[in-house]
Amino acid sequence: MTPQKIDSNSQVYSDISNPISRIVEPSSEFYSIFSQEELVELIQALELKREFPLKYSYKGRGANIWNNFYQKYVVPKWYQTPNVEIELLKKNFAYINGNYQDCNKINIVDVGCGNSYPVKNFISQLDKLGKINKYIALDISQELLTLSQANFTKWFPSIEFNSSTFDIEASSIPADIWQNSTALQNKDIANIFLHLGVTIANHQDRNRVFQNFKNSMGKNDLLVFTNEIGSNSQWDGKVRGGCKYHVDGIYTWIKNEMEISSEDCELVRKYDVKTDSITANIKFHQNYTLSFSKLGLDRQIEILKDEEITIWRHHKYQMPELIQDLEKAGLKLVHSSHSKYLSPIMVICKLADSEI
Ligand SMILES: C[S@@+](CC[C@H](N)C(=O)[O-])C[C@H]1O[C@@H](n2cnc3c(N)ncnc32)[C@H](O)[C@@H]1O
Repeated sequence: MTPQKIDSNSQVYSDISNPISRIVEPSSEFYSIFSQEELVELIQALELKREFPLKYSYKGRGANIWNNFYQKYVVPKWYQTPNVEIELLKKNFAYINGNYQDCNKINIVDVGCGNSYPVKNFISQLDKLGKINKYIALDISQELLTLSQANFTKWFPSIEFNSSTFDIEASSIPADIWQNSTALQNKDIANIFLHLGVTIANHQDRNRVFQNFKNSMGKNDLLVFTNEIGSNSQWDGKVRGGCKYHVDGIYTWIKNEMEISSEDCELVRKYDVKTDSITANIKFHQNYTLSFSKLGLDRQIEILKDEEITIWRHHKYQMPELIQDLEKAGLKLVHSSHSKYLSPIMVICKLADSEI
């Protein structure tokens, strides 16, 4: 089989048994965004699950795509619906603030902090009550942590800010991230773990994420997250919010980074029965070989015409399923509260009694 060069980055292979396949290699910039471990996980997910995990689309220039989407469509403005996270944090403030009677101070551990915008008012309220020990921003994307730091330290110059790159799907949060120097101080400080922006809906392995949160928590700690409640299969097919604008941005980004030509693919959004989620997929119109041959890698992924690669997913929960998943992880739901727009919900959990 003879390769036929088309341009500097792609080749066409052809023989009788194997129709033409366009061979592409990601850009050098792409390789520079990921650690070796992340690249291996990404390649495996492409190979075995036909998925480019969404978490990796927040890295590198992906951070700007998120922040631009956020600034344009999510930051509260008088002419658009209020930001759900801000509304729900406000609505649940008394509950969150009153729930750790044994402790005088709290650490806010914001997992998947993004640009930290949603927590601004919430932190400000806690700060006025003298409650905050420190704010800890954790995110898979260093670029978003940099943005979070710039925002947070401008808003709250006197609150201690710590940050670290971290993948909540991969491991629990190491305690040294929040621990103070003396055991006595630590006893008096509870942690509030935030996982906002409906991020739980996007993970490949939600149960693992709940488990990792549980393994990070002590008896006075809370986990606070948002999600949408409803049946995924009854999606009305109307494309809006993140499913429209964030997805459009990452579709273009992935095509560019992976050198996939626009004529060779299309973006398809649909209900996916296998994952019981709404997904956005790149559908290929011709055979492709994604080749990873830099940084000591040597992997070729064959994608056939009409195959799809998922680049975004969103899973709404039905309430009984959510409670079951929390219980499976050793967590118990202690409070939940709907937004006035009904489907978004804020969920507050503690360690299950059996875990204390
Ligand atoms: C939907 S955005 C939400 C950002 C912010 N919490 C908000 O409500 O605006 C998801 C954020 O979580 C981060 N993220 C996604 N998957 C992650 C993971 N497995 N571990 C840590 N951070 C993750 C992304 O980089 C991004 O900043």
